[in-house]
Amino acid sequence: AKKVVLKEDPSLPIATKIKIRNGVDNRGKRVKVSGWVHRLRVQGKNMMFVILRDGTGYLQCVLTDNLCQTYDALTLTLESTIIVYGVINELPAGKTAPDNHELTVDYWECIGKAPGGDDAISNKVNENSDPSVKYDLRHLVLREERASGILKVRSQVLKAFRDHFDSRGFYEVTPPCMVQTSVEGGSTLFELNYYNEKAYLTQSSQLYLETCLPSLGDVYCLAESFRAEKSHTRRHLSEYTHCEAEMAFISFDDLLDQIEDMICDVIDRTLAHKPTADIVYKLNPDFKRPERPFMRMDYSDAIKYLKDNDIKKEDGTFYEVGEDIPEAPERAMTDKINRPILLCRFPAEIKAFYMKRCPENRALTESVDVLMPGVGEIVGGSMRISDLEELMAAYKREGLDPSPYYWFTDQRKFGTSEHGGFGLGIERYIAWMLNLYTVRDTCLYPRFTGRAFP
Ligand code: 4AD
Repeated sequence: AKKVVLKEDPSLPIATKIKIRNGVDNRGKRVKVSGWVHRLRVQGKNMMFVILRDGTGYLQCVLTDNLCQTYDALTLTLESTIIVYGVINELPAGKTAPDNHELTVDYWECIGKAPGGDDAISNKVNENSDPSVKYDLRHLVLREERASGILKVRSQVLKAFRDHFDSRGFYEVTPPCMVQTSVEGGSTLFELNYYNEKAYLTQSSQLYLETCLPSLGDVYCLAESFRAEKSHTRRHLSEYTHCEAEMAFISFDDLLDQIEDMICDVIDRTLAHKPTADIVYKLNPDFKRPERPFMRMDYSDAIKYLKDNDIKKEDGTFYEVGEDIPEAPERAMTDKINRPILLCRFPAEIKAFYMKRCPENRALTESVDVLMPGVGEIVGGSMRISDLEELMAAYKREGLDPSPYYWFTDQRKFGTSEHGGFGLGIERYIAWMLNLYTVRDTCLYPRFTGRAFP
């Protein structure tokens, strides 16, 4: 066989370099597109179809005649990197391809060949692979449409949270991750050696946000939180992205309203972005925006609900007032009610030290968990103790040494205020929106018990 060597035709117009997402706007003119071979179909000797992927989209490319007879064409493999030159034209009726168009290639180059056969990615990992293999090869799995689609939604969700808070007048702050105080109890702290002093990875930025109120007013952050969770569940990670907000001069009802407003506004903003909405409905065709107002339910009524609906502990007994409602019954209740629930007023003894008591019943706290069907808790929040004496008593009751918290305590000394806030787990929020089985699929590289790689 004679060796076919391609040469770019110098009489053609100079190609404009574009990304695939801009294909529609660049139809009819000569373009240059770089990407990875996502799909490959050879049709006889004189025609080859490549679906090219560049992260911004997918583009069907048609190679004909000597373009598909070169050595590189005959040995082309999935995931190889190529540059194609040519003109994008709308497809005739009856044919389908991404964006309803295709690039007719007039010249192309192979930049990097990927292995084929036994060493091809699809032979190392595919949808039937064991989960642990998928996590080991997460860097390759990310190239799939589903995995990358979820990350694209995640990107837009993070933007939607930022836009939401910006539109409501909040400042964004970036608190430190290396800390020397616990927020949510000592049992889930990751300890580290900090220049021979004991320090931890933060569980929550809440206490720092509280210190910002007198200087910046309402504030929020999107930061990593860390939990040494012993539980190996589909909604617990060791590292997660925590969206936290703190507001001054509000009431408990204001707090509940703001949480509901945020969840609904973030959904609207996410779906207003057409490419993201397309992915959301592809991954979760039944997605429906929740109805407002959300159901508001007291913890004591949840205990009653569990009894009335025969939702029991593993030992066959019922949950009683004063007990924590674990993941399984919480899910069972939320799935049965099948709409978002603002679950309010938990007993003080099962909640964190900083929570404000209910004026009408001092055994309860002005606290809230938001429960979503399919996932359960996605938000935890509360009003905070604003009184100095009460906070000192709370440290004592919890067995916390107040000295490392001096800066937190000072907020109650130097001009205190009624205030409150909440934290939302981004991974749980996305798992709910996309109806995913596990929050792990919403992470670039998930961190959970026994896994800190890749
Ligand atoms: O309920 P949590 O522990 O509340 C706090 O940390 C408060 N200090 C937040 C605040 O008021 N500023 O956590 C808040 C949310 C949970 O509702 C959940 O969505 C998420 O953080 N979360 C986790 N997500 C994934 N993996 C874990 N191990 C998580 N722990 C909490």
